[in-house]
Amino acid sequence: MIYVLGSVNNDISIELPRMPKKGETISAENCRMGLGGKGANQAVAIAKLDYRPQEVGASVKLIAHVGKDAAGAELIAKLQENRVDTEFVRKVNRATGTAIVTVTPKDNRIIVYGGANSGLTKSDVDEALEGATSADTLLCQLEIPLYIAAYALRRARQIGMTTILNPSPVKTPLPDDIYYNVDIIVPNETETQALTGINPQDRDSEIAAMRAFHMRGVQYVVLTLGARGAAMSDGAYIFDRIPARKVNTVDTTGAGDTFVGALALAYPHIGMYSFKEACLFATRAASITVSRYGAAESIPTAAEVDELYCNVIEGGDGFDDRF
Ligand code: ATP
Ligand code: RIB
Repeated sequence: MIYVLGSVNNDISIELPRMPKKGETISAENCRMGLGGKGANQAVAIAKLDYRPQEVGASVKLIAHVGKDAAGAELIAKLQENRVDTEFVRKVNRATGTAIVTVTPKDNRIIVYGGANSGLTKSDVDEALEGATSADTLLCQLEIPLYIAAYALRRARQIGMTTILNPSPVKTPLPDDIYYNVDIIVPNETETQALTGINPQDRDSEIAAMRAFHMRGVQYVVLTLGARGAAMSDGAYIFDRIPARKVNTVDTTGAGDTFVGALALAYPHIGMYSFKEACLFATRAASITVSRYGAAESIPTAAEVDELYCNVIEGGDGFDDRF
């Protein structure tokens, strides 16, 4: 079982031809509401990318808070439609987290109101992890209070679970015991720069940044590098780069979440993938997410990633597969 501790947001996503200037009002081309939040997106990625038959049951439990409002009820229903176990998603007396996502052809910008996500407690973590064993994984991001993520990682380590941290949105400095209790860290370029002081822009700086995380006690490091792909290191033998697949990118929201969810599923959980293969699977899955609008709804299923893989083998669509 993978336990995801994190945020659930009502994403209001607005497509714009460009960002408005100061004092300017412009018309949006589209507006949609959907399931978002880093915790929810990563849980959905795990559930959608799990190719095992439904009879096996849910592979992911989300530990989260939503409000006792219409948005909260709707988001829980969407999580369940996607086969995420919501036993530990509590409805509380605060507004459901909300994200305003502005998407232009150049980039996206997000404003988040934490709301219910800010009220997660240690007892939420204790209750959820009561039945966890060393065969299970805990995956966290930082769109919830930092001390709750730190507490959960400590508890998971005591149980002997595999622990994964996506330090997003970045909070600096991260306490030493977070690094100590994390097996796999998956930061993007901005987070890497904020946490290590190194901008990973070429092979030397990527290696230096990954070493900085190893020096703090993390065994596995994966840097996600946007359209440049990902760099990874296991601190001993593996030091590699995976280029991103070239796709028609329309909205990158949820790309990082797809990558992290896919990695958490493929590597420690299913265990049929090597570290490198799991990163390749994650890269392929995320390349589909960026070619669609939205957050959770843009995440592909295992069948869609498979189909892409078959096309790569048969058609040779230019994906530079270095394995
Ligand atoms: P976001 O916050 O936009 O969801 P992120 O900043 O957390 O994403 P990125 O490093 O931008 O994370 O992207 C995660 C992964 O998604 C990359 O490692 C890559 O595999 C894939 N990806 C991102 N952007 C693109 C792109 N333009 N084309 C193809 N793949 C992409
Ligand atoms: O990582 C993408 C997510 O970040 C969006 O779904 C939005 O809710 C913000 O939290």
